[in-house]
Amino acid sequence: MSNNDPDRPARDAGESPERHGRFITLEGSEGVGKSTNLARVVAWLEARGLEVVQTREPGGTPRAEAIRDLLLDPGVEEPLDADAELLLIFAARAQHLSQVIRPALAGGAWVVCDRFTDATYAYQGGGRGIDPERIAELERFVQRGLAPDLTLLLDMPIEAARSRLADRGGAPDRFERERGSFFTAVRQAYLARAALDPGRIAVLDASRPLAAVGEQIEAILAERVAAWA
Ligand SMILES: Nc1ncnc2c1ncn2[C@@H]1O[C@H](COP(=O)(O)OP(=O)(O)OP(=O)(O)O)[C@@H](O)[C@H]1O
Ligand SMILES: [Mg+2]
Repeated sequence: MSNNDPDRPARDAGESPERHGRFITLEGSEGVGKSTNLARVVAWLEARGLEVVQTREPGGTPRAEAIRDLLLDPGVEEPLDADAELLLIFAARAQHLSQVIRPALAGGAWVVCDRFTDATYAYQGGGRGIDPERIAELERFVQRGLAPDLTLLLDMPIEAARSRLADRGGAPDRFERERGSFFTAVRQAYLARAALDPGRIAVLDASRPLAAVGEQIEAILAERVAAWA
């Protein structure tokens, strides 16, 4: 059975055999509309009577959010070693999985998460240049086979997404301060992930008006939910 089979069983066999809920993630570089469209995914699922847990990475629990603050804070002068960054992200993920994601899925809820491990391959792999096989080792160690059932990858040119962020305002975090070449590498790494796993990762053109992106997301959800039923 391949990862592309929409009828495959949950991938956390052995960990949560009672799992009933589905795990959906939103991915993409800064400003592409992940948080905006996540609200639409949650509303669509809830309108169908499904119990939904909405969360994000890095973070999603108080301790994991504390790690997020450490990762994003641009105010600390000491550089953050790339391996330390990677390990902090997986430490936060382990906490998030054990406290929120695994219990929710086991209890029958659907989990909708703003970024997950594809972001690690994109930012720490593509952006920082860490060998993806090292990321895969940590993924196996921390996730023990649990992976999203569906990933919505919002893709658009870097500059246009960054100008959306400028419109949104707020101080740039430690990642948002990176150079344009960093985000070009992030985008390419995301697209490479999608090419490897097209059955799970749906790539959407996020440069279109919000309504058009939302309609496409709802069409994908309708098709997947019907296939999983
Ligand atoms: N399709 C769209 N067209 C125009 N503006 C959009 C679109 N989608 C989102 N926006 C706007 O772009 C800004 C960034 O959106 P949002 O915060 O959802 O992005 P994000 O991917 O979550 O960003 P971050 O990576 O910083 O969390 C917001 O002001 C949002 O209203
Ligand atoms: Mg966001």
